[in-house]
Amino acid sequence: MKRLTIVRIATAMVLWMTIGCTPSPRVVGNQEPVGPQSRESTVNALFAPPSPETIPGDLRGEQIRLGYKMIVATQEYGKRYVGNALNCTNCHLDGGLNPNAASFVGIAALYPHYHERAGRRVTLADRINECFERSMNGKPLPPDSVKLTAIVAYIEWLSKSMPSGSAVPWRGVPRIASTHQPDSPGGKKVYEKKCAFCHGSEGQGTAAAPPVWGPRSYNIGADMARIGLAASFIKANMPRGWGWTVTDDEAIDVAAYINTRPRPDFPGMTHDWPKGGKPADAPY
Ligand code: HEC
Ligand code: HEC
Repeated sequence: MKRLTIVRIATAMVLWMTIGCTPSPRVVGNQEPVGPQSRESTVNALFAPPSPETIPGDLRGEQIRLGYKMIVATQEYGKRYVGNALNCTNCHLDGGLNPNAASFVGIAALYPHYHERAGRRVTLADRINECFERSMNGKPLPPDSVKLTAIVAYIEWLSKSMPSGSAVPWRGVPRIASTHQPDSPGGKKVYEKKCAFCHGSEGQGTAAAPPVWGPRSYNIGADMARIGLAASFIKANMPRGWGWTVTDDEAIDVAAYINTRPRPDFPGMTHDWPKGGKPADAPY
């Protein structure tokens, strides 16, 4: 057997074990686990982001608007802190207003809270900076900076109707429940057929879509670098704006493929999960 084939089989086995351990549906706050069907109906019933007309006309309103710009035009407004070609809205779709793509609506009510990856209590500002360092492959914003305060203000405004500590049923991404064995070479075929024409044949991005691997993508410490999470995001949201979808199996395979391509390193992640709780699909 060729060495490459052995490596591929070994990789596939490791990936299969990790996907097999995909966390059960999320429990947020004090509520019961939310499965795919009940998530959808709960979200349909409760998801109601405030309308932009309710942004106050004062200084606070200006902060909120700047925060929104930081999310949708991070390349421009957050330039100094970004180390890749992404904007927050590329994953937190529709400026954080999409209930299937790690929405920001309501989440301020959940902070501060203990974050296992950090091994400590984190504030919303800390969590935003984690995405700057990992998803954006960049640098954290200074704690009291106008720009960080603005993003916090935007997310707080999106959370104003959620009492502190209340449950956020749409939090995160709807997770796929599948025991399919990820097959990275199979994922390459899916990628070429269903992703490359927007994301580029080398994952480098095009005018139509951002990069999914390579030096201008998220780094290995990002949440999206985890196969289970990426597969769920892809299943729920890709291809963007087209009438067709991918199956669960295709999403798992293609997530395994893109997340085994080269991407920026993240040295800081050797300090992750200092007190345990590391998910099986973390890529290290
Ligand atoms: C029709 C074009 C199109 C197709 C096809 C498409 N995407 Fe995307 N994808 C996008 C766009 C546009 C975004 C950014 C969305 C935004 O900013 O609103 C995106 C975002 C993403 C992201 C998060 C941001 C990033 O670049 O890391 C991932 C991961 C992703 N797509 C994976 C895939 C995969 C895998 C496929 C194939 C199954 C796929 N996409 C097919 C257009 C597309
Ligand atoms: C490559 C995709 C990607 C990009 C780009 C990205 N994020 Fe994230 N972000 C994620 C994922 C995935 C999660 C975790 C979702 C989960 O755990 O289900 C997350 C989580 C978060 C959270 C915590 C959400 C919660 O429910 O507690 C915040 C806040 C956040 N990101 C802010 C930002 C900001 C601000 C930016 C831009 C500076 C950004 N992110 C860019 C993918 C991304």
